Amino acid sequence: TAGLKTKKIGKKAYYFDSIDSTQNQALKMSEESVNDGTIIIAAKQTGGKGRLGRKWISPKGGIWFSIILQPKFDISITTLFPIASSLALSYAIEKTFKISPELKWPNDLTIKGKKVAGMLVDVSLESNKIESLVLGVGINFDVDTKQIEKTLKGTSNFYGVASLNEQKMKVKPKVLIQTFLVELEKIYELLNSKQTKNIIAEWTKRSSTIGKKVELNTVEGKIKGDAIKIDDDGALIVSEKNKISKIIAGDIIHLSK
Ligand code: BTN
Repeated sequence: TAGLKTKKIGKKAYYFDSIDSTQNQALKMSEESVNDGTIIIAAKQTGGKGRLGRKWISPKGGIWFSIILQPKFDISITTLFPIASSLALSYAIEKTFKISPELKWPNDLTIKGKKVAGMLVDVSLESNKIESLVLGVGINFDVDTKQIEKTLKGTSNFYGVASLNEQKMKVKPKVLIQTFLVELEKIYELLNSKQTKNIIAEWTKRSSTIGKKVELNTVEGKIKGDAIKIDDDGALIVSEKNKISKIIAGDIIHLSK
């Protein structure tokens, strides 16, 4: 935490050389009394979790952490939170690595179409209010992409793995994490004060999804159409012929111009 320029996020930090999943650890801790913005970081995870029950391969060399937050914002914008967080990570990568990752709905960061980072959000509610929220962030910082691709080939939502060290920039993991935490705190404050317009506009600018033809797997089955925009609450709006669908959760299985 030395040199960290945030007010809350990351001020309290726990570090593990190896853990099953920082997300599990954070979820456990969030049930007790913890500071808003507590971060749990691990050098490696033995049971890393991805979205929709998938595995997340987390060898040494990557950046794996979870943050416990007690937000003031309304439950109606929880879907926007992971989108806003991926924008914050995108800003941080732009500042440190001088490259601009593409954002793939809902919360993947890609470089040349390959996944470089992902986010996982667990929300715990109490009488329809957000009690706490755990944001899990996985960044392929310096990992063997070939090795991970071998393990993941054929699994759902696999479309290639990128690693930031391929950029040949001498960035320290700590610098990237701290830059992200500063950007996240700014965005978190915007969400808490309901200023979402700019977040959606900036996300859309970097998006590889909006304006494309998409095919998605959703809870209601497969949906195909044109990705029109992100709604105020973070949902993806897809139109096919005269039918407009609003998608809250799902995976893009195909993207084309
Ligand atoms: C995804 O794209 O499917 C989300 C990946 C999230 C991975 C991170 S790594 C730190 C935290 N701990 C976990 O077990 N998962 C998240």
